Amino acid sequence: MTIPSLWLSLFRQTAAPGTSLREQLCRALRQAIANGTLAQHTRLPASRVLAADLGLSRVTVEAAYAQLETEGYLGRHVGQGTFVRIAIPRREASVQGGAPAIGLGLSRRGEQIRRGGGCQDPLRPQAFCAGSPELRAFPADTWRQLLNRRLRQDGEALMRYGDPQGHPALRRAIAHYLGQSRGVRCSAEQVLVLTSSQQALQLLATMLLDTGDTVWVEEPGYRGAKTAFAAAGASLLPLPVDQDGLQFSPQSAAPRLICLTPSHQYPLGATLSLPRRLGLIDYARQHGSWLVEDDYDSEFHYDGQPLPAMQGLDHQQRVIYLGTFSKVLFPSLRLAYLALPPALVEPMVTARTVQDGHCAQLAQAVTADFIEQGHFAAHLRQMRQLYRSRRDTLQTLLSTHLPWLSPQATNGGLQLAASLPTGWELPLSRQAAALGIATPSLSSLYLGTPRQEGWLLGYAALTPDEMAGAVKVLAGMKLPG
Ligand SMILES: Cc1ncc(COP(=O)(O)O)c(C=O)c1O
Repeated sequence: MTIPSLWLSLFRQTAAPGTSLREQLCRALRQAIANGTLAQHTRLPASRVLAADLGLSRVTVEAAYAQLETEGYLGRHVGQGTFVRIAIPRREASVQGGAPAIGLGLSRRGEQIRRGGGCQDPLRPQAFCAGSPELRAFPADTWRQLLNRRLRQDGEALMRYGDPQGHPALRRAIAHYLGQSRGVRCSAEQVLVLTSSQQALQLLATMLLDTGDTVWVEEPGYRGAKTAFAAAGASLLPLPVDQDGLQFSPQSAAPRLICLTPSHQYPLGATLSLPRRLGLIDYARQHGSWLVEDDYDSEFHYDGQPLPAMQGLDHQQRVIYLGTFSKVLFPSLRLAYLALPPALVEPMVTARTVQDGHCAQLAQAVTADFIEQGHFAAHLRQMRQLYRSRRDTLQTLLSTHLPWLSPQATNGGLQLAASLPTGWELPLSRQAAALGIATPSLSSLYLGTPRQEGWLLGYAALTPDEMAGAVKVLAGMKLPG
């Protein structure tokens, strides 16, 4: 008899309630044949023997053998007993183990995307994950009322397919909000509603870039943008940033697209100066480049007035403005938007239909009501105050308890960048992770070298007590060297 004892003990441990013993035995045998534990031609024990080994009745084992014979897994011959009749080809492991060596069937682009590792956001607001808003302060009751009203009033219409450009009421609300608070000059006809900044970046990459085109990105810069452009086959040129934002020299080879976070550079926090804004717009006009203005968290500006969006300075129709509701409302809402130069509206909307068609209608309608009825402005005011005080709290905690960390001055946002001495980031981050604290890496946001080591510490979703507790844990770590 050749059934391995490991298989026997596994079978005993994996009882499946609600399934007959016969079926459980069939499943276990099928699985063992499929994964090669029972190879082709293996002789199975006589039903009487297996029944005794497994503590089952002989009738049950006989019935399972008969079932698998009918299915073609087993053969039975008088005088020879019961055999495994088939061999199921197994997946080949690569030389390093893990992923299959051949046969995934991905395109070159697909393989490049896979190797790039993607860009997933944190699933829960653990200290100090970057970029998470405080969802415990979201006015859920107001949202529920607006949702119920919409469902009552035009629930059926909102369950149909919708406008690929976005719900008209939401586009109007966005255009009005952008004009009032960010100085963006656009009408509802120029607004395209999408599920996320990430989707917008991917759409722009698909529609504006050919393989090999050059894209200027900030160094350090936003990983989501870089992965979207790299996935489209673009060649990324990282340009350094200083206290005035992106540094560029007009002699550099002209890019097809320039991606920027002008109001609050991600991740270092600088504001792009007015002369540089004007210089970039002029450069883009001369060279026919597109400027993507990612205004991801400009609503959270704490000291003085934020500079209006670059888009409002552009009379050449080169700036594409990008905003998201992920930070100002909640990330799972999955709503973001582009304010497009008029010439790009039709091609982008057509391309949108090739993606997922449109965003959820009900969510768009409720968001439009939330903005139009003044709840959005009130929520932003409240969150601005809350996040400002949390930023101040974190700065005080860091300077008191972690003097080896050098926080960058920041006038807004949901996170702050802090530098570490060279060689410290990895060992400290490992210790922090073992203690349950996330310390998002600053150095990994660089494409080239040198890289500033440090952390990008999210504070917006943490109460002062939560921050103090986590800082105390970090303060107890062993410092390198
Ligand atoms: C620079 C930047 N742009 C965009 C986003 C994300 O937005 P979305 O959730 O809409 O993709 C983030 C999120 O952290 C960000 O840091």
